[in-house]
Amino acid sequence: MKEATLVIIKPDGLKKSLTGNILTRLSETKLKIIGAKTVKVDKELAYEHYQHLKDERFFPELIKYITGELHHDNRVMALVYWGEDAILKVREVAGATNPEEAEPISIRGAYGRILTIGLYENVIHASSSKEEAEREIKLWFTPKEVVYELYPIGEVEVENYKLEVWK
Ligand code: PPS
Repeated sequence: MKEATLVIIKPDGLKKSLTGNILTRLSETKLKIIGAKTVKVDKELAYEHYQHLKDERFFPELIKYITGELHHDNRVMALVYWGEDAILKVREVAGATNPEEAEPISIRGAYGRILTIGLYENVIHASSSKEEAEREIKLWFTPKEVVYELYPIGEVEVENYKLEVWK
């Protein structure tokens, strides 16, 4: 079944100039990129993205990581991939969440590490399920920033302008 998934290349990936390598590895999936942008992640977006982990002991460090505070570089790259079994295919190329458990040839196995504070510095995020992919894509992208109409779109009027929003 064709589906969409969100990939985030995290600040360590950009700081270490790994973007090209990571995109090349992801292109092995033969999935289509239907959305892509560089984002400065603020605390609000970070908290919302990782809301299900707010009670974990590593949560404060996770927020510092994705907002760029750990690497003094607050850029991330957000991408939407689309195609047959996209979620599984991207997660296979990404490797296990824990970089020590990831296959050495996977992205996280090759470029990730565990910091002494216990945080996984695992270079990329990849959606874990169809439900999470939908939640995350709607959070990171507006309808106009994604080439396909993945989910129902509505309109809101702001000062005589009609803006498209996810329903
Ligand atoms: S998963 O694999 O995405 O389903 O994992 P999930 O439990 O939903 O998300 C865990 C995210 O927290 C990051 N993280 C850690 N997890 C567990 N233990 C430690 N120590 C830890 N440090 C960081 C982990 O990398 C997941 O974020 P993403 O962005 O998905 O990699």
